[in-house]
Amino acid sequence: MNKKKRSPIICRCNNITLETIQQAFVDGCDTLDKLFDATTAGVGPCGGSCRKVTGPILEYYLKHKTFPPAPPKQPKK
Ligand code: FES
Repeated sequence: MNKKKRSPIICRCNNITLETIQQAFVDGCDTLDKLFDATTAGVGPCGGSCRKVTGPILEYYLKHKTFPPAPPKQPKK
């Protein structure tokens, strides 16, 4: 049986997965504002706490053109 692992939710306010965020970066989003425009991640009722996760992922991607082996942990509310 082929079980595909689900992509973790990074932006809980808008239910945006890590896979969606990574695809947006691959597709050319090179700022967090562009990520929001493409996915709605980063602007929600919490005030954008997921930017603490998406920011480091973006920095890593822009520097290495690949993604970190494990995404940073979402800060606890
Ligand atoms: S978790 Fe992304 S805006 Fe709140």
